[in-house]
Amino acid sequence: MTDLFTPYTLRGTTLRNRIVVSPMCQYMAVDGVVNDWHHAHYAALARGGSGLVVVEATAVSPEGRITPGCLGLWNDAQAEAFRPLVRAMRDAGAVPGIQIAHAGRKASANRPWEGDDSIAADDPHGWETIAPSALAFGAGLPKVPRAMTVADITRVRQDFVAAAKRARDVGFGWLMLHFAHGYLGQSFLSPHSNQRDDSYGGSLENRARFLVETLLEVRAIWPEDRPLSARLGMIEFDGQDEQTLQDAITVARIFRESGLDFLDVSIGFSTPAAKIPWGPSFMAPVARRVRQESGLPVATSWYLGNAQTIDGLIRTEQIDLAMIGRPLLENPHWPYAAARALGREDAPWVLPAPYAHWLSRYRSL
Ligand SMILES: Cc1cc2nc3c(=O)[nH]c(=O)nc-3n(C[C@H](O)[C@H](O)[C@H](O)COP(=O)(O)O)c2cc1C
Repeated sequence: MTDLFTPYTLRGTTLRNRIVVSPMCQYMAVDGVVNDWHHAHYAALARGGSGLVVVEATAVSPEGRITPGCLGLWNDAQAEAFRPLVRAMRDAGAVPGIQIAHAGRKASANRPWEGDDSIAADDPHGWETIAPSALAFGAGLPKVPRAMTVADITRVRQDFVAAAKRARDVGFGWLMLHFAHGYLGQSFLSPHSNQRDDSYGGSLENRARFLVETLLEVRAIWPEDRPLSARLGMIEFDGQDEQTLQDAITVARIFRESGLDFLDVSIGFSTPAAKIPWGPSFMAPVARRVRQESGLPVATSWYLGNAQTIDGLIRTEQIDLAMIGRPLLENPHWPYAAARALGREDAPWVLPAPYAHWLSRYRSL
């Protein structure tokens, strides 16, 4: 039976288990370039035993960063700096993945621990934001974006392709398109943020157009043997959930036909008025339904719970992979802790030999 520690193969890529490091922004970059912080962080996560490590939302263009501290892949210097990090993750037995992103109307914000809000209009560290329509998110992000022209849309699509090529060339083995959380892709899909009256707004087909075009163009340059995934906000918790979910499943089917291999089921975060029912594994029923109705393998995240619960989600085929976020910040060796909690004899060997050898001989007194 498939469980949390069963390897997973997609296209020509095999993950050693079903545990994925969910992308988590560190906000520690300067000019979008990885540094010692990212190296230590991602190497530790890879050594901790996860099958796939997805590097945080990495901007495809300078205005696509959430904060000034976000990573980027809009130039070759940024790409080259990723090489040792990719190597460290592979050496530790993980498949190195990366999420490429554009923050749209949620860009030009302060780091979470410095306010988590729009950078003030008179602050030179901020920049002009762009989005499908000139509508602010609201709450702490009141900055009104400039509505994108069709030329802007074409340029950002090309930026996604250029970033994907750089990710490919420095050796990332798994690519995730960030189409969730109220950032640019999501904001095209959601009527909360898209009120265009051209071919990129209105009907579901039109609202999905930017996402599908981007996906098709990225697929064309992404290698056949490497999985292409997307994180999509499939539900908003805004009172319109059945319609939103049905629409998102329709989009997921189009994604599948357009060459997407894997879907990470997440939340839309398109409106500050959402009432999200936080609770253990609360996204699992959504993911299971998406899996059944879209025909795509899926993952989800958000308070998935303890090792037994997550193992159960895999065993009952509700999800194919488990995206783990904060538990891995708490303990990068969470996969080892999970293996122990599940009673696996080989638990120490989830970790590299210099740790596993000693832990396999260790008995507390
Ligand atoms: C510090 C932090 C940064 C995050 N950055 C991203 C990101 O870059 N891209 C993304 O899609 N989600 C991001 N998320 C969401 C996580 O990937 C994950 O979905 C979320 O934390 C829920 O999983 P958890 O309950 O296991 O933490 C972030 C979460 C945290 C805590």
